[in-house]
Amino acid sequence: MFIFRRAAELQAFLQRRRTHGRSLGFVPTMGALHAGHLSLVERAQAENELTVASVFVNPTQFNEAEDLRTYPRTPGKDCELLAQVGCGLVFLPTVEEVYPKGGHLSPKLVFDGLDTRLEGEHRPGHFDGVAQVVTRLLELVQPDRLYLGQKDAQQVAILRSTIKQIESPVEIVAVPTVRDHDGLALSSRNARLSAEARREAPAIYEALKRTSAGLKDGLDAASLLAQAKAYINAFASLKVEYLELVDAEQMKPIQTYRAEQAAILVTAVWAEDVRLIDNLEL
Ligand code: PAJ
Repeated sequence: MFIFRRAAELQAFLQRRRTHGRSLGFVPTMGALHAGHLSLVERAQAENELTVASVFVNPTQFNEAEDLRTYPRTPGKDCELLAQVGCGLVFLPTVEEVYPKGGHLSPKLVFDGLDTRLEGEHRPGHFDGVAQVVTRLLELVQPDRLYLGQKDAQQVAILRSTIKQIESPVEIVAVPTVRDHDGLALSSRNARLSAEARREAPAIYEALKRTSAGLKDGLDAASLLAQAKAYINAFASLKVEYLELVDAEQMKPIQTYRAEQAAILVTAVWAEDVRLIDNLEL
């Protein structure tokens, strides 16, 4: 396994290996890896001759210092897991390497509200930080394909807009959400759930599935969304923050579902003190 801490070393290595049109897949992560992250790596490996995974806890996307401080950092274990799935190229940069001039935002990107709705509303500045770090990592790694989890649907939409705005030729591949046996979307936050919250949390995906089925049967969106919220809120440990039907590109609310429009159900739910997000494409 090759672990690169410096971009120049990674670039020199890749320059030697990327001859004869060999494609490079890139999987950015913040570490604390689980099977969801690894599915992105496996997909990248299946579609490219070379795959680089990065582990970098990006300070500019955290809006709370405490959240950044306590974010799980397990680089040794992460490298072990990457090695187990045969990923031999890991980029583990320092903050100084990613942001040599400090964390300034350049160029200025415009998301026209996509960055302030839903997740953006509850985490001000978060998506600016995500767009900033991914722009920078793309500059350093120069991949052909960028692998992102559909679990973070709004992040995918933000990054699609970002690569258009910076005119990057990279192709975005959105990979389906990996779930536990009972439907709960895998997340590093699941480890913090109490036994009761863990037992009840699968209700989130269940509610999304029921709502999706109702919409496809032509039932009224507003009443289905109200029912879904009530269903989740009836569990003692769960409280819905938002649950909406939105279009997949701009993430603006949709009043009436039409099969020809790319629509997505998105939700954030508090399971006691743990905030979980999930979504389902229709
Ligand atoms: P992180 O939360 O570490 O997630 C890295 C990637 O794994 C993201 O693309 C995320 O959508 C994907 N992922 C997480 N859980 C998943 C699951 N259950 N199934 C499939 N994919 C899953 O997202 C970030 O890091 C950061 O914002 C980053 C893009 C790295 C920028 O710092």
